[in-house]
Parts: sequence; structure tokens; C-alpha cells
Amino acid sequence: MPRSAVAIALPQAEFIAVQGHLSEAGYEAICISTADELEQVLSQRDDVRVAILDGEHNFDGTLEMYGLLHEEGRDVPALILMPPRALGRVGLGGSTQSRDEYFTRPYSAESLRWRVEAMLIRVDTVPPDDDAGPIFGDAPGYAGYSVDAASDVGRGQIVIIFNPKGGVGKTTIAINLGAALQLRGQRVLLVDCDTITGHISTSLGMASPRTVITAWQENQDSGVQERFAEIARVHSSGVSVLVMGQSPLHTEILEPKTVTDAVQAARRSYDWVILDMHPDYGPLNQALFSLADKILVPVTPDVPCIRAAVQFREVSVELGIRDRLSMVINRANSGVSAADVERVVGMPALARVRSAGMLFVRAADEGKSAVERFPTAKVVGDIDGLAARLLAPVGSDGGARPRQRTLNSIGISVRGLFGRLTAQVSLGRELGQARPTIGTESRVSEGSVVAEHGGRTLVQAVQPAGVDPTPRSS
Ligand SMILES: Nc1ncnc2c1ncn2[C@@H]1O[C@H](COP(=O)(O)OP(=O)(O)OP(=O)(O)O)[C@@H](O)[C@H]1O
Ligand SMILES: [Mg+2]
Repeated sequence: MPRSAVAIALPQAEFIAVQGHLSEAGYEAICISTADELEQVLSQRDDVRVAILDGEHNFDGTLEMYGLLHEEGRDVPALILMPPRALGRVGLGGSTQSRDEYFTRPYSAESLRWRVEAMLIRVDTVPPDDDAGPIFGDAPGYAGYSVDAASDVGRGQIVIIFNPKGGVGKTTIAINLGAALQLRGQRVLLVDCDTITGHISTSLGMASPRTVITAWQENQDSGVQERFAEIARVHSSGVSVLVMGQSPLHTEILEPKTVTDAVQAARRSYDWVILDMHPDYGPLNQALFSLADKILVPVTPDVPCIRAAVQFREVSVELGIRDRLSMVINRANSGVSAADVERVVGMPALARVRSAGMLFVRAADEGKSAVERFPTAKVVGDIDGLAARLLAPVGSDGGARPRQRTLNSIGISVRGLFGRLTAQVSLGRELGQARPTIGTESRVSEGSVVAEHGGRTLVQAVQPAGVDPTPRSS
């Protein structure tokens, strides 16, 4: 018996690829071609929990379908395919204020399964904010994806700190960002998700904390699973600290769905849930990526680290999380310009953190964050600047924009939502020339290529050669 149904308005070949992964996860995939078909399905069934729409190929139809999903008395979240560069106009606020989400081609069919899983978790655990809507504006600048946290009461932000390269400052930034946000009056849960080399608790002088693994193992007898807020311990900085586990063995209990449910639930108790990750792309990390509102990528200006960040940027496209990535340039005073790092890595930098010699180590020796121990140090100012950027209301900084509301039914506001993209999409349609390049086994369908590639199903848009799909600022 399927868990729920997902209405999918994608070209046939893409539908088949996505359907395969969704049915593996226990969802029924319903193929939709027109708004009329969607209307019929929605009127006959009440188990359609998410819809996947194609705002790239079927623009007008998508407008109508979007309206149906959100018309009076109905609020089915949509996962909407956008032209890649158009994501710059769909700010992060879109994914934090509304339950709709966005993705781009190329994508892997499997990644949609994780996106749908994450959306359903949100639907189940977070009551809809009926005063919410996506935020739109011009292309992102330095701080283009500012998080509108203060207005999102009862719905903490999930921030992941990740770079697949070790030793680049993930844990250092996670600890001190947490402390800086706490000092700014935020409720912070700092989670050490690194069961292999994690050292948040030792750096903060919290010897042998009760871990999630221990707690959940103990809970197996009682059958009542403790929440993160109950297991966490409060550090002297006021930050609640939670350690997933302190041994790389016996981690089976950290099953991705169970952990993501717990992280989602923690949003209710904290303004910020900061996850410090182990550098790997395993199933748990992938599931957590799909929940994140923002993924901060610490990058030191050296070739191995920059390569790792570029790899992550490429992987993030496949995982459908590209729009959530921002870089934090760590050890930034090494003579390499931030603009150069931004250009090479292909991510906006949200902050620069200078080299601080032994200062972080000295703070850790005392079981404190540098924010507490050396409040006037310049590097602490850098980290506080990062906290300020995360807290800044959209529209206040770096080319960020004022929020726009959308109506919950098709109409002028929904047209505003997609309107600026129309010209671009039409242009793409007029100039479209097939360029099916990926994989060896590929099927071309309605402007997209679906290919089997290294055991994965990849879907790529057929881009008109030489045409920049960036929507122009109005
Ligand atoms: N800006 C900085 N100035 C001085 N030292 C730093 C800075 N950033 C990080 N470090 C030091 O670099 C070392 C590695 O940092 P950290 O443990 O935060 O990296 P990591 O990315 O979390 O590593 P891993 O992948 O192993 O978890 C630590 O000793 C830390 O104190
Ligand atoms: Mg670390």
C-alpha cells in the first residue's frame, strides 16, 4: 500500500525515471500532463501530498497547476523545476517561508526522491504558515541568500557546515557561529554529526556527554524516543550541544529517516540548528543536506580545498541543493582575493574568516569558544559578521531584496511569481537546439535528456547552444 501519492508533471521519459525511485520509496507517482488532469486527480483523491511541476518546459501549464495546488482550502506543496540561473531570483527565503521548493536540470532522479521525502517530513511536522510566500528579487550578490530568521517564529533554521575536505575549519566555524548567534539572543542547538572525528564536546570541555546513539539505544526498552532537546546539554555559552555518537561503530540506529525526523522536530525548540558534518557523501549526510535551509562551505584558499569545494558544488547540482550553498572563506588573509576564490569555486562568499594563529586552540584548551574567550579578537568579529549576515532580514544587505507575497490561488501574484521568467523560457523554446550529451544510454524527450550514467539516472535540459539562460534584471 503506497504511503502517499505524488503528482508529477514532467516529460514522459523523466516521469518514468523519477517514478522508479519514488515507488522504491513507497510513493505512488501519478503522471499529469495538463491542469485539467491535475484538477481531476485532486478532486478525486486526498492522498496527493506533493506535486512536481516543470516551470522550465511547460511554463503556462505550470502556472495553472500551481494555482490549483494552492487554491482555497488546499495547500499541496510543489517541487518546481526552474531554469538554472532563475534560482537566483528564488531566494532561500522561498524554501524557508513556504513549503514549495525548487530544483534545476540537470538533476538525478534519485535526488527527487530525497527532496520529496524531506518535503513530506516538513508537511508532517511543521504547520503551514499561511502568511508565507516565496521571496523574489534580483540575482544574488554577496549575501544574496540571506535567511529571514527573525520572522519565522517556531521554525528554526537548519544550517549545515560541510566541505568534503577535512581540516578546513568546519568544526571551528560551527562552534563559534553557534556561540555568536547565541550571544545575539538566538536559541542555538549545535549538533556534532561527525561520529568519526567529531570533537565539538571535547573542544567545549564537555567530557563524555550522553550521545544520541546511547540515548536512543536506552530508549529501545521504554519505546519512547527522546528528542534532541532532551538529550542535549547546555554549554556555558548558552548553546545546547548534542553529539550523535563518539564511536564510528554501532551507528545503525542513526537511520537517515529517524535522524531527519528528529532534526525537523528540533526546529520547534531552537532558532538555529547547526549541524557539523563528517566529510562524506553517505546516506545520512545526503538526507540531512536535503533538509538544510543553508549549507555553509568553509573553503581555505589552497588547491586541494578549492577542488573539494568545486566537487561539492557539482554534487550539489545532482542532489538538488545547489541553491542552498554559500562559501565561508576561512584563513582568508592568505593573499588570495575573495573574488578569485568565488570565481573559481563558483559560489557566493557569505563571510571571510581570517587566520587566528593558536587562538581557537587556546580557547578549546579552556573548554570555550573563541567568541566567549576572546570576544574582542578580530577573528571573532569575522564570525560575528557571519552570524549577522545569517540574521539579516532579506532586503537589508548586499543587494538582498524586499519580500513579496504571493496569493494562494492563481492570479496576479502567481503570475508575478513566475512572470519575470516567462520571456526567458520562451526565448529558450524558440532557440532550443538539442544537445543530448550525457551518458551512453540516453532518451531525448520534450527538451530533456534522460540518461543512465554510472548506475544513476540523470536528467538534463537540452540547452540552446550559446544561449545564457539567465533571466535579465528588470
Ligand atoms: N581561521 C583559523 N585560524 C586558525 N586556526 C584555524 C582556523 N580555522 C581552523 N583552524 C584550526 O584548524 C584545525 C582544523 O579545523 P577544524 O577541526 O575546524 O576542521 P574540520 O573541517 O572540522 O576538520 P574535519 O574534517 O577533520 O572535521 C583546528 O586545529 C582549528 O583550530
Ligand atoms: Mg570537524
